[in-house]
Amino acid sequence: MHHFHYTGPDLHCESVDLAAVAKLYGTPTYVYSAGTMADNFHRLQRGFDGVDLQICYAVKANSNLAVLRHFANLGAGFDLVSGGEIRRVLAAGGDVKSSVFAGVGKTEDEIRLALENEIFALHVESEPELARINHVAGQLGVRAPIAIRINPDVDALTHAKITTGRSDNKFGIPLRHAAAAYEAAAKLKNIRIKGVQMHIGSQLTEAGPYQEAVERIAPLAMQLKATHGITYFSIGGGLGIVYQDALASGQSAWWEALPADRRPLTPETYGAVLAPLLAPLGLKVMLEHGRFMVGNAGVLLTRVEHLKRGAGRNFLIVDAAMNDLVRPAMYDSYHEIVPLHRDSSRRALTADIVGPVCESGDCFAQGRQIQEVGEGELIALMSAGAYGYVMASRYNTRGLPAEVLVQGSMFELVNARETFDQITAREKVPAFLK
Ligand code: LLP
Repeated sequence: MHHFHYTGPDLHCESVDLAAVAKLYGTPTYVYSAGTMADNFHRLQRGFDGVDLQICYAVKANSNLAVLRHFANLGAGFDLVSGGEIRRVLAAGGDVKSSVFAGVGKTEDEIRLALENEIFALHVESEPELARINHVAGQLGVRAPIAIRINPDVDALTHAKITTGRSDNKFGIPLRHAAAAYEAAAKLKNIRIKGVQMHIGSQLTEAGPYQEAVERIAPLAMQLKATHGITYFSIGGGLGIVYQDALASGQSAWWEALPADRRPLTPETYGAVLAPLLAPLGLKVMLEHGRFMVGNAGVLLTRVEHLKRGAGRNFLIVDAAMNDLVRPAMYDSYHEIVPLHRDSSRRALTADIVGPVCESGDCFAQGRQIQEVGEGELIALMSAGAYGYVMASRYNTRGLPAEVLVQGSMFELVNARETFDQITAREKVPAFLK
């Protein structure tokens, strides 16, 4: 479910006409629905009804301050991976005390910042990192709260670049070394053992791998509860979203019409499979979803520059590019693309939908069917709320795009388009070239 739908012929986000947003703020522009984010948060919560639950929104998916404030208002903690993200949560008025700090290479400065702000826990990825955290905590005269990330060696059945729970991935400590790692942690003076953690990958579309990983780690969690008094089990994030049927998925129970093998993994199914496995452990359950919370809550608006009719191939050249949304170029990912104004009298067009950047990888879709659109008309790339703006770059000296947040009939620019002066502000020509 999401809040992007046609009212008459025009695509709206909640009650806001997206063409009006594009007219005011130009393109390319990301537009987010606050209502969709809230729905996603509440659906996830309801999926684990009866379980002591803490949702830590994975900031990396979309770190705009307005988005963070919205999740803070909903009661979320945050899953953080850098000093910058810690500072973002503070700037947005979020609660670091109910947030966790993950990542395989935390620096001493970052660990210090997390501890000074009384982080709920640091998620430890290796023995040397544990020693570093112990050292920094000692300097500050505190005991660092930690959970160790366990790598359960499970195939998450997702894209190779975003699978993280296999033994050949760089993440976590192998299950067979876990008990010894906790014993070692217990001997460190400045460490306080608080929980256990796993995260097996992103864009998971089946519950099976989660179930397998939880079943592998649950006996260890029970043992750690008895020996070290752990209080929580974080099962990470990774819940996948719908990319193929993005527009249709705005309707409630829309998936019932799909064949079984194309049905998405809903938060209801995810909760129904995992809650019964987790509840008997008597531990707080932590979830660290990013994509699920924001992915279907955002679109990228872009304007058509030209329709170039080639030899046997059409190119729809738009003003957004791989620097604005890199996922198709980086992971060959699919984003549904729809016109902002639907017109049934138009013919269908099959085209490659491409940006203006000077490489062939700057392509959002190949051979895609779309209603014929011409210069100046607007289209939307759906399911772009997660790993969109946050992965944008200035390649080709293109400024970062604008971001707008919608709630009901209200909308506001929450990040202005970057100007040329802002792009070059920190650059200078050295004296020896003058
Ligand atoms: N927890 C940990 C420890 C993580 O590494 C991640 C994501 C998450 C939680 C949140 O995962 P999510 O719920 O969003 O799937 N740029 C890629 C996705 C990278 C995910 C990295 N880790 C993409 O655009 O598909």
